[in-house]
Amino acid sequence: MVTALVQRQIPRPAEILELAKFKKPQLNGRRRRLAEALTIHDLRDIARRRTPRAVFDYTDGAAEGELSLARARQAFEDVEFHPSILRSVPEVNTGTTVFGGFSALPFGIAPTGFTRLMHTEGESAGAGAAAAAGIPFTLSTLGTASIETVKAANPAGRNWFQLYVMRDREISYGLVRRAAEAGFDTLFFTVDTPVAGARLRDKRNGFSIPPQLTPTTVLNTLPRPRWWWDFLTTPKLEFASLTSTGGTVGELLDSAMDPSIGYEDLAVIREMWPGRLVVKGVQNVEDAKTLADLGVDGIVLSNHGGRQLDRAPVPFHLLPKVVKEVGTDMEIAIDTGIMHGADIVAAVALGARFTLVGRAYLYGLMAGGREGVDRAVHILSDQIVRTMKLLQVSCLEELTPRHVTQLTRTTPLLP
Ligand SMILES: Cc1cc2nc3c(=O)[nH]c(=O)nc-3n(C[C@H](O)[C@H](O)[C@H](O)COP(=O)(O)O)c2cc1C
Repeated sequence: MVTALVQRQIPRPAEILELAKFKKPQLNGRRRRLAEALTIHDLRDIARRRTPRAVFDYTDGAAEGELSLARARQAFEDVEFHPSILRSVPEVNTGTTVFGGFSALPFGIAPTGFTRLMHTEGESAGAGAAAAAGIPFTLSTLGTASIETVKAANPAGRNWFQLYVMRDREISYGLVRRAAEAGFDTLFFTVDTPVAGARLRDKRNGFSIPPQLTPTTVLNTLPRPRWWWDFLTTPKLEFASLTSTGGTVGELLDSAMDPSIGYEDLAVIREMWPGRLVVKGVQNVEDAKTLADLGVDGIVLSNHGGRQLDRAPVPFHLLPKVVKEVGTDMEIAIDTGIMHGADIVAAVALGARFTLVGRAYLYGLMAGGREGVDRAVHILSDQIVRTMKLLQVSCLEELTPRHVTQLTRTTPLLP
C-alpha cells in the first residue's frame, strides 16, 4: 500500500477569501499601460504603438548604421558589478551636487529638439516631471517650448539651457541672455554638430522638419488617431525660443549647424554667461584636457545619442580615461545609451558626476505625456536605488571603480 505524502483537508472559506485579493482595476487606459511598463524598453514598446512611425523613428533612430548608439548601449550592458556584503544599507541617498547645485538623483533630462512632436505636452511635461523629481531639466535651442514656458513649468527647480551657436551669432547671444534672465543656472554648449548626421530612417520615412504632408507621412500618421488629434488641436509646432528671430523653420534648423564654430566662440560665450558653462559632445581625452585648461566648469562625454558621427567613441569607454586626466579639474557628465538605472550607477562608480537621459525620457513622453515622463523617471530611480542596495552602498560617494568592471567586447584592441 502506498502511504499518502500529504494530508488533504477541506479548505475553509476564510482561507480561500484570503487568497482572492483582487487588485482594484485601473480604468484609465493610460495609467494602466504606464503602470504595466516595468522598464524603459517597455515604455519604448508603448511609444512605438502610440506614435506615428516617422515620429517614433526620428526619436528612436540614430545616424547611418546606428552603430554609435548600439555600441553605447552594449557597453552599459557589458558591465560586471561587484557587490560588498554585510554593510547594512536600510536606506540609500541618491542625492548629489552638480554644476553648483543639488539634484535628487544622479541624472537629468537631456536637451532634445522638436520635443512637442513626440507628444504635444513636450518640454512642459519634461520640466514638470523634473520639478516633481527634484532633478534638472535641459531645454534645447531647438526646443518647442520657450525659455519662459519651461521656467513656468519648473519654477523652483533647476533649468539648464543647451546652446547651438548659430550662423547668425546674434540669435544665439539673444538666447543666452534670455536664459540668464529667466534664472537658468547652467549652459550646455553643444559642439558635435558641425553638420547634421545622416538619419537614414528619416530619409526613408520621408520625414522632414517641419513635417511635410506627403502620401507616406499621412499614411503612417493615420493609424495613430490620438496623436493626430493632439497635433491638430494644440498650438502649432515651432522652435519656440526662435520664433521672434524670423526665418522659416527649415532655415533656422539649417543655420543651427555651423561648421565654422571654434574656440573663439567658446570664449565669447564664457564672457556672456554668468552661470556654469558645460561643453557637450566631448569625445577624446585631449579635448577634455584643453577645456579643463580653459577653465570650463564641466563637460558632457557624449556622441549625441549616436545621431551625429556613426562609429564614434563610446562615451562610457572614454569615461575612466577622462576622469583620470581631468576628473579633479572639472565635473564630468556622460550620456548616450542609458536605458537602465544600473547604467547610471555604473557611470557614477567610474567617476561621472552626473548623467543625462535623452530617449529614456522621450519614450516615456511618447508613451503617456507628463505621466509617461514621471513613469520613466520613477523606473530609473527605482533601478538606481535597488542597484545601490544590492551593491550595498548607501550613497553615491561610496561608489568607486572597484564596483564595476567594463567587459571588453567592444573596446579597441590596442589602447
Ligand atoms: C530626438 C532627439 C533630439 C535631440 N536634440 C538635441 C538637441 O537639440 N541638442 C543637443 O545638444 N542634443 C540633442 N539630442 C541629444 C541628447 O541631448 C543626448 O545627447 C542623447 O539623447 C543621449 O543619448 P540617449 O538618447 O541614448 O540618452 C537629441 C537627442 C534625441 C534623441
